[in-house]
Amino acid sequence: MEKKITVLKGDGIGPEAIKTLAQIAKKYGHRFLYTEAAIGGAAIDRYGVPVSEETLALCKNSDSVLLGAVGGHKWDCIDPDKRPEKGLLKVRKSLGLFANLRPTKLFPQLAAGSPLRQATVKNGIDLLIVRELTGSIYYGERFTGEKNGERYASDLMGYGEHEIERIGRVAFETARKRRHKVTSVDKANVLDTSKLWRAVMHELAAEFSDVAYEDALVDSTAMQLINDPSRFDVIVTENMFGDILSDEASMLSGSLGMMPSASLSESKLGMYEPIHGSAPNIAGKNLANPLGTILSAAMMLRYAFDLEKEAKAIEAAVDKTLDDGYRTGDIMSEGMKKVSCSEMGDLVAANL
Ligand code: IPM
Ligand code: MN
Repeated sequence: MEKKITVLKGDGIGPEAIKTLAQIAKKYGHRFLYTEAAIGGAAIDRYGVPVSEETLALCKNSDSVLLGAVGGHKWDCIDPDKRPEKGLLKVRKSLGLFANLRPTKLFPQLAAGSPLRQATVKNGIDLLIVRELTGSIYYGERFTGEKNGERYASDLMGYGEHEIERIGRVAFETARKRRHKVTSVDKANVLDTSKLWRAVMHELAAEFSDVAYEDALVDSTAMQLINDPSRFDVIVTENMFGDILSDEASMLSGSLGMMPSASLSESKLGMYEPIHGSAPNIAGKNLANPLGTILSAAMMLRYAFDLEKEAKAIEAAVDKTLDDGYRTGDIMSEGMKKVSCSEMGDLVAANL
């Protein structure tokens, strides 16, 4: 198999995922062709914009996009429309990446590092947040100015029913490949957008009658994730609720640094990235955990190229590396062997 991959290096990605993919290509006889492009702060420094039109075109012409995290203190004071994050939002919108899949799985080797009570952890954690990614308050009309003689700002949250329906379908269809349960998260006791969201989800629930369905409020879901995450299979929710809940959920497994994600469009084109940020406090120090990015590459093989065996091989290599006791700083615990970001990458590649 030969595939063109655009690598958006962002402001905090190491070469570890590429090294892992190189190993896979060698072992299974594939050819992955990479083109690198800048996004976020790196693109601001080079082109004055967080993502260029050429980069967007490059992404559209590739089979898949692999992305590092964007953002850093260096660009904190820049014009808000040019912040590194805007580059990411623009890529999502222009590639039509409306479905963001964020799995949280407990690695048994890291169970002791979960902030949850061990009795709770024992029930296991294996959930998937399906986050709507190209609508709602992230892309609504915004205003900054004055009103009633004081500074005033607003952001509009809105959804068209087709946006709700298509993300709902992704959730129900994915649940069919898992434990057949969907929890739809909203704030329907307050927000009109949530009332429409809930109505559309109920229509889908009737269509997918083989999937168990429940509504939940976002505040209560935040609480239940801590209280008993084992009750969740697929959680589907709007853009900002999904942003917040996915950070919370990822931590349950021990570290944000471990978690991959996939952002999918209606065509096959997708973008794969760890859910963590660029961690400016440790960037460039060879301290970060590369496993989120490496596992994102595994998700890419699975969803973009249908290479299930190869995806499993990466996941098994990560498992083996953890079994052998190797840990980056964020997941370090007593008696384990502490390694740097690049060493962790080398160990995973060696285990392939
Ligand atoms: C994420 C990030 C982004 C988001 C930021 C960097 C714009 O937090 O992917 O979760 O809020 O979507
Ligand atoms: Mn986030």
